[in-house]
Amino acid sequence: MGGLFVSFEGVDRSGKTTQARLLAQALGDRAVLVREPGGTALGERLRALLKDAAVALDAHAEALLFAAARAQLAVEVVRPALAAGRVVVCDRFVDSSLAYQGAARGLGIDRVLAINDFALEGLRPDVTFLLAVDPSAAAARAGESDRFESEGVRLQRAVADGYEELARRFPERFVRVAADRPVTAVHQFVLRKVQELLAVRARGSAARGATPAAGERAAAAPGDHAPAPQRGRES
Ligand code: TYD
Repeated sequence: MGGLFVSFEGVDRSGKTTQARLLAQALGDRAVLVREPGGTALGERLRALLKDAAVALDAHAEALLFAAARAQLAVEVVRPALAAGRVVVCDRFVDSSLAYQGAARGLGIDRVLAINDFALEGLRPDVTFLLAVDPSAAAARAGESDRFESEGVRLQRAVADGYEELARRFPERFVRVAADRPVTAVHQFVLRKVQELLAVRARGSAARGATPAAGERAAAAPGDHAPAPQRGRES
């Protein structure tokens, strides 16, 4: 069975981490749960630097460090897991850089996309759940403040606007989920969508007569990971 690459996105404290964990638990052994930045030895070291408000960091340097952590994660974890037919569940991925560094920090979505295209060689999630909440309501949720959260609700609003633009730009993979609802309601919605996608994948593999072997997928060209079918937003 082919792999599936799922990412969760949203402003700080939108509930992504909880939803990513619940999805991975529901999928069991087939799932590989990773977070960004992190998930590799390099990524965890970069994470500590990136989150430390005491370390001066220019927006360009910030974007490049996130992209470096992501490049390592792609090669070390994501591509091998997809090649083995696993479901990769990522708590943030490339769209975080596009929304935070590209839109909110003002570097420009296209310029940040360009460095990430270099870093990822075309790897993209098959489906991206955008957990949509009002940024001030999210800020009121409990949690520790880091470099980004301490910059307040104005940054989070700019991030939220950036995500909305991304959802318009990439409708083939973005699924917008109203996340100001009970955790279990959001989870059921997400799980249903993922199961639908897995069923489509399984039918596709059956129709082709055989599932590509792990080695074949691993040797495939970057970006070969099959695109998800068109799907609409949640009403
Ligand atoms: P994290 O603890 O993962 O926050 P959350 O639990 O809200 O996801 O911290 C990561 C912070 O880094 C978060 O504020 C978003 C920010 N970030 C970027 O600015 N760009 C990126 O590419 C990524 C992955 C995260």
